[in-house]
Amino acid sequence: MKKTTLTTCINMRQRGEKIAMLTCYDASFARVCEQTGVDILLVGDSLGMVCQGHDTTVPVNMQEMCYHTQMVKRGNQHALLMADLPFMSYANPEQACKNAAKLMRAGAEIIKLEGGAWLTETIEMLTQRGIPVCAHLGLTPQSVHKLGGFRVQGRDQQSAETIFNDAKTLEQAGASLLLLECVPRSLAADITAVLSIPTIGIGAGNDCSGQVLVLYDVLGLSGDYMPKLAKNFLGGDNDSLLKAIHQYVTDVKSGAFPGSENSFT
Ligand code: KIV
Repeated sequence: MKKTTLTTCINMRQRGEKIAMLTCYDASFARVCEQTGVDILLVGDSLGMVCQGHDTTVPVNMQEMCYHTQMVKRGNQHALLMADLPFMSYANPEQACKNAAKLMRAGAEIIKLEGGAWLTETIEMLTQRGIPVCAHLGLTPQSVHKLGGFRVQGRDQQSAETIFNDAKTLEQAGASLLLLECVPRSLAADITAVLSIPTIGIGAGNDCSGQVLVLYDVLGLSGDYMPKLAKNFLGGDNDSLLKAIHQYVTDVKSGAFPGSENSFT
């Protein structure tokens, strides 16, 4: 198996090959994910909800992100390793550089941050200093209290236009990947068509260059509530963790996941 780099992902997009991404929070799961051919592992700040039991990602801090990134790094050899900058760790470009450097030293190969055009200077500064960036638009969970809940974004024309224009601005600023969360399928399709960088969707329909899910959702470990955008792949013939994760990767690559039942209009 060859190491996946950012260049690999960009080439996959150009060839129309789907990118399979999953969250991961420790070395043992990283070792299992490794065997499935997953392209990108994200040390997501969703760890605040699925590992720590918080209601939102807001309480997660830099020290915790670095700790989990170090663990995933030890179990991972082949996937591109992405880590989230947590809430309020990138309120200005200087703070973003300082904290992104900590994540890179912990083992991240690309960092992700949530927000629109206000991040232009931050993304320019990070990328000019050698830190690749994945931008995150649509439902940005760190802003859950401002958004009034975990809601689909970009359903009305004005907010759809804002997300569309932000996507172009962030690509222009130097973002190498764009994650789109909980937006109507048609909006994600329009953005994917107009950008040249890969788009990764979660609840954004099947037209993105790739997909991401929270690992614990894929394994049915997230409690009683399964969000519409997610799917439990464990069960039936997929009677082991390895088989379930492998099925997710296979279904993303073939385009079988997400179906319309996992997407929004
Ligand atoms: O933190 C996270 O897990 C994420 C995913 C929802 C994409 O950002």
